[in-house]
Amino acid sequence: MKNNSITTGFSRLDKDQKINLVASHTTDPALFSNTLHASWHREPLVQKLYDEFSENTLGNYFVPYGVAPNFLINGKMYMLPMVIEESSVVAAASGAAKFWAERGGFHSEISGLEKIGQVHFTWNGGFDFLKTHFPEIRSLMFANTERITANMIKRGGGILDIELVDMTDKIAEYYQVKATFDTRDSMGANFINSCLEEFADTLRDYAASKAELAAFNLHVIMSILSNYTPNCLVRTWVEGEIIEGAHHYDDHYTDREFVNRFETGVRIAQVDRYRATTHNKGIYNGIDAVVVATGNDFRAVEACGHAYASRNGDYSSLSRVEISGNTFRFILEVPMALGTVGGLTHLHPLAKLSLQLLGDPNAAQLMMIASAAGLANNYSAVKSLVTKGIQKGHMKMHLLNILNVYKATDAEKVEAVEYFKHEKVSHSAVNSFLESIRG
Ligand code: MEV
Repeated sequence: MKNNSITTGFSRLDKDQKINLVASHTTDPALFSNTLHASWHREPLVQKLYDEFSENTLGNYFVPYGVAPNFLINGKMYMLPMVIEESSVVAAASGAAKFWAERGGFHSEISGLEKIGQVHFTWNGGFDFLKTHFPEIRSLMFANTERITANMIKRGGGILDIELVDMTDKIAEYYQVKATFDTRDSMGANFINSCLEEFADTLRDYAASKAELAAFNLHVIMSILSNYTPNCLVRTWVEGEIIEGAHHYDDHYTDREFVNRFETGVRIAQVDRYRATTHNKGIYNGIDAVVVATGNDFRAVEACGHAYASRNGDYSSLSRVEISGNTFRFILEVPMALGTVGGLTHLHPLAKLSLQLLGDPNAAQLMMIASAAGLANNYSAVKSLVTKGIQKGHMKMHLLNILNVYKATDAEKVEAVEYFKHEKVSHSAVNSFLESIRG
């Protein structure tokens, strides 16, 4: 292992040189180097493509690519591609999807596709003075971004509005140019940021060119899209009948008992932020898996959802239950900015494949699909929690990972899976079982 000295010129090394250098920092350089080489794609051109997605790339980090069938969404059946490392997420999604497919499936609607970007700036000339000039600045902003927006406008999108916002009650002399955008089927980050930087230049040039404004200090602090898109919202729900005395939802609880327990479980996540965080994490198990599989930015999607979950001042559940008479409705409302063109969506070979598998959806359709995965995982998790508990099923799914930790052979795995059908799974139980069959 090397000391804490600073590494210089790393990015200029070729890939093998980088691997060797990094390997020299590990306890087993040969293992490190061999493992990374073994992770390379067999087609050099495909590997080059993967390498160029990021920087200082040494190899590929594998995460399973799975599929959850039976997602009936607005009457159309989908198989959902899901990229996730956590055992039981795909099984939970598939189980809920099949259950709800037999009851009309997922219903979903979009209430908007609007994105937001801001130029943050300071100015010591007062709001009213700036406001009188803003109509002219605004027109210039539209005009100066024409070469950036031309294609987007052809596709039916573009800049929807540009407004001036007084933020001086929060920070002295702080204002915003707040713009709204329609980026059609692209997530739109590059488009929005390019427009915003042009707005910033326009603002600066305008202030510098007018004698009556130049006397005041206008400083652009930063120009960047907002990942909070509350007007890019998808609402997805399932609904089922409650039949007195029947056991449609659970073997142990009757329909009425089950929906009451389920509703209480969800209400707890509405009022308690500790529970809400875990509840929403379960929703993002499903959403993120589809978002990653389709080459979208799961950090942006999560950040947006968690901000939305706090919109009323405290962090709360993104899903809710409505019980009216004999109808049980489970609803997820979540904002997300997704793309089906641009970014990695058609560059990453598996992202491209995922979109094909989904029938080449547009952005709105992909929002509905990803949110259905979120609702399905949320349904499965809360159902397990308010009935038999999560751990039994979870550990059953985790069994293969534990067996792999103990380097079980295929034959041992078959025996273990059979044995643990009726036994509690834990690390020590699996270890003891393997010791017993290994003699
Ligand atoms: C585990 O990844 C997700 C759950 O914790 C979600 C939940 O508690 O609702 C099971």
